[in-house]
Amino acid sequence: MSFDPAAIRAEFPILQREVRGHPLHYLDNAATTQMPHAVLNAVHDHETKHRANVLRGVHTLAEESTEAYEQARGHVARFLSARSEEVIFTSGTTSAINLVAHSLGNTFAEGDEVIVSDLEHHSNIVPWQMLRDRKGIVLKFLPVTNEGRIDLDALDALLTARTRLVSLVHVSNVTGAELDVRAVAEKIHAVGAKLMLDGAQRMAHGPFDLPTMGADFYAFSGHKMYAPNGIGVLWARQEILEDLPPFQGGGEMILAVTREKTTFAAIPHRFEAGTPPIAQAVGLGAAVRWIESLDQSRAESHLKALTGRTLDGLATLDKGRGLIQMLGPSGTQARMPVVSFSVNGAHPHDICQMLDGFGVALRGGHHCAQILMDCFDLTGTTRASLAVYNTTEDVDALLTGLDQAISRLT
Ligand SMILES: Cc1ncc(COP(=O)(O)O)c(C=O)c1O
Repeated sequence: MSFDPAAIRAEFPILQREVRGHPLHYLDNAATTQMPHAVLNAVHDHETKHRANVLRGVHTLAEESTEAYEQARGHVARFLSARSEEVIFTSGTTSAINLVAHSLGNTFAEGDEVIVSDLEHHSNIVPWQMLRDRKGIVLKFLPVTNEGRIDLDALDALLTARTRLVSLVHVSNVTGAELDVRAVAEKIHAVGAKLMLDGAQRMAHGPFDLPTMGADFYAFSGHKMYAPNGIGVLWARQEILEDLPPFQGGGEMILAVTREKTTFAAIPHRFEAGTPPIAQAVGLGAAVRWIESLDQSRAESHLKALTGRTLDGLATLDKGRGLIQMLGPSGTQARMPVVSFSVNGAHPHDICQMLDGFGVALRGGHHCAQILMDCFDLTGTTRASLAVYNTTEDVDALLTGLDQAISRLT
């Protein structure tokens, strides 16, 4: 186990490039992280030596490809302390949530209730609104606190005997706030409802014991955890998956098809209709092994230090003028390394464009969280999001560039 940010950085070929004459300071990791050699090589190796379709073929390449695909599932399962059967490969968080909204959602009756929050990414709102329109369910929203956390005090009043599912963001892609899962799981289960978590922003930050956490469903994307695009995971407890009707129909998810009827394959394949993203799954397997190879507690301290440096630096730039409004927890406790802020009189897109001129990659806009923006009376924010390969130089480049952008734009 090791943790040396400079050595880690050297493992990412894209971080060696320049942008507009400056070293690349990539601070858009909440949107997509970059991939280390270990992942790129695993994908290349698979595509150049073992590429074939999975599950049915009996020739050598088909068997090797199937083994690599199932091995990747095993690596992800180990990362989550879960069983392989509980890991369903999807194309990302969005498709994992849509799977649940269809498969579980189709078992809901008119008047059944789903609770989400004002902190959610659109991908954890729109599928439930579509379910509301399809099935006549009632969709309720937990409010957010001034610190950009889900207001858990409001949960008791929203839970009823009709609540079937509560689906919440584990870590916000805007405020970085981390949900206290244990504080809500028991209450939700007490009314007979299930808990789903959107883990898109949690997974880059190390393995954890998912089955004991209290969630029943968990969704995430590979491209936010050093893996390729086009791969993600839905995890759910085995006993829940066994009872869940399939979502999409097609090849790979059946046992037998006659003109009259189809019998479905066992889990997890029942939920993986069609040719899956095979090389991408192999890449995800390599990514989780790469994350596991890091010293987790030093990685966490490194990111907390960088987050603190960003928060302090923004406060210093503000010079008490009230120009910079932070959106999120004031400290680094129970938050991941995502820092959002707005600057009075400066549009986030203009800030991002000016910072790009210094090689700093940021994200500006509503971050697919328009309800949250409404709560704070904003149309958008500028967001810096950090990964293990970021350094103090990246944060300082952000602060120096922002200082100049503020002088020019306000
Ligand atoms: C919290 C959160 N949920 C869901 C998503 C959607 O992920 P994907 O586009 O990979 O499906 C994102 C992406 O930014 C996210 O940050």
